[in-house]
Amino acid sequence: MLAGRHDYLLLDELDHASIIEGSRLSFSKVLKFAHNDMTALRNKLKLCHKDSIKLIVVDGVFSMEGDIVKLPELVKLAEHYGASIMVDDAHSLGILGKNGSGTASHFGLTDKVDLIMGTFSKSFASLGGFIAADKEVINYIKHNSPVTDLQCQYDACLSRLCFSLN
Ligand SMILES: Cc1ncc(COP(=O)(O)O)c(C=O)c1O
Repeated sequence: MLAGRHDYLLLDELDHASIIEGSRLSFSKVLKFAHNDMTALRNKLKLCHKDSIKLIVVDGVFSMEGDIVKLPELVKLAEHYGASIMVDDAHSLGILGKNGSGTASHFGLTDKVDLIMGTFSKSFASLGGFIAADKEVINYIKHNSPVTDLQCQYDACLSRLCFSLN
């Protein structure tokens, strides 16, 4: 949805299954790079058309391996090649960064990550999740996503969690 037919999604080969499945719903070209290998990512970025959207999607902490993404190097590459970054912080929330706020905070790079998503189903022991980005991006997602919050049931536990986070 954020990337179109002429654009690219660059995925770490060990990204969570939900990212891989999500990428299949997109018409974008999907390029996978070797796990946490910034040389491999650079080589994939070199293949992308200069004027296309290039969205790098990575786990903050990889589910099965427990590795932390090499975000500082990844940010440098993204800046060099004009790519955007999305971090799935499912396994980082409550663990890394200031007050457990995640991977970008851990590296002091919150301003350099375009999209941060998290689930409430792990360290928050609830359900649902969030995506954080600039206002324009969130607005775009709200109006273009095939899934809206109208389709989601809120329970008391989730309401309480959202209240606490606010
Ligand atoms: C890295 C990662 N992202 C996303 C999810 C999806 O979380 P949920 O569907 O429980 O909200 C999971 C769940 O295992 C995960 O490990």
